[in-house]
Amino acid sequence: THINWTEDAAEKGGYPHFMLKEIFEEPQVIRNAITGRVKNGKTIIAELESIADKLKTTRNVQVVACGTSYHAGLVFKRFLEEYAALNVEIDVASEFRYRKIKFDEDTIVVAISQSGETADTLEGIRIAKARGATIIAVTNVVGSTISRESHAVVYLNAGPEIGVAATKTYVSQLTVLLLIASYIAQLRGFGDKKLMQIVNEIEGMPTIFESILATSNDLTRELAKEYFDYIHFMYIGRGYGYPSALEGALKLKEISYIHASAYQAGELKHGPIALLDRKFPVFAIVPDDSLKTKTLSNIMETRARDAKVVAICTEGDQAVARIVNSRIEVPKVSEPLYPLVMSPYLQLFAYHVAVMRGHDPDKPRNLAKSVTVE
Ligand code: G6P
Repeated sequence: THINWTEDAAEKGGYPHFMLKEIFEEPQVIRNAITGRVKNGKTIIAELESIADKLKTTRNVQVVACGTSYHAGLVFKRFLEEYAALNVEIDVASEFRYRKIKFDEDTIVVAISQSGETADTLEGIRIAKARGATIIAVTNVVGSTISRESHAVVYLNAGPEIGVAATKTYVSQLTVLLLIASYIAQLRGFGDKKLMQIVNEIEGMPTIFESILATSNDLTRELAKEYFDYIHFMYIGRGYGYPSALEGALKLKEISYIHASAYQAGELKHGPIALLDRKFPVFAIVPDDSLKTKTLSNIMETRARDAKVVAICTEGDQAVARIVNSRIEVPKVSEPLYPLVMSPYLQLFAYHVAVMRGHDPDKPRNLAKSVTVE
């Protein structure tokens, strides 16, 4: 029989869009990120061995990135602060490059760029390097400009990403950055049991992602049916949940063109809550973590304004179930790993909303895969 198999469909591996195909590659992408880097709860980042002495003693780490990569950087910052007792600064590259920051031989700059070509990030590392900082690049593209101009490069090995809005590379960045942070923590003498447990959990992530992806597509499609017609969305989260709020909102804006803002849940009362009413739904990031009860009271405040609330929470969490309109449940993991397990749901929700609104999620208007001009 003749199969009408167009070249386009073949490239997408039978998926209607690259974005969906790439989300379904996430288990494999995590596997690639881990390969050769984890053993018995220990992390080995061979690419950083040449600067291990600097990583052991530095007191000044700066993270620089744009867009989705910046959100991965926020998780890295928090994790490094928590597990390596190291203060970390982060800024988006377009701001970083114009700040009067003091760099010295002690400063380590971590530049996160999927493409390795983003103009602002490149300029940021050039400035820092000229002033004596050591540059670590975290990128997916071998031989990219940022990789060539850095002192050390850690590759994602995620394979090419075609969809303009980053999906699988974000998951890969989170994985690699958590491993880099664990490596630094170990070097600095903080490789305790809790950290080893997290590293072991990261090793199990490909399997967790396989089970997530077995159901998340249908779940998020159903949810999207309820919400695709709104014109505003407010994402809220605390702690590790805040980067997820930012990234969830960014995905939605990028491909569905719905206005979405993200706030730290505790900041709602300082202004943004004035916007909420029944036409302005809230997407609450509320894992079962140390800040959950605080986020729950923020959710109650939004309900009091008649806002509908969708929550992404931990499996079986009745406290969340009781107070929200709809919810997505993710497997229970250690606190710093929630940004990882929540990613596919947030990406798929944005994907289905975009498709239901008639947009091509692979080619969002006004956006480029890599921004090589200022
Ligand atoms: C563009 C892309 C985003 C990406 C950002 C940073 O805006 O559309 O998806 O997050 O650039 O790209 P980079 O390659 O530096 O990670």
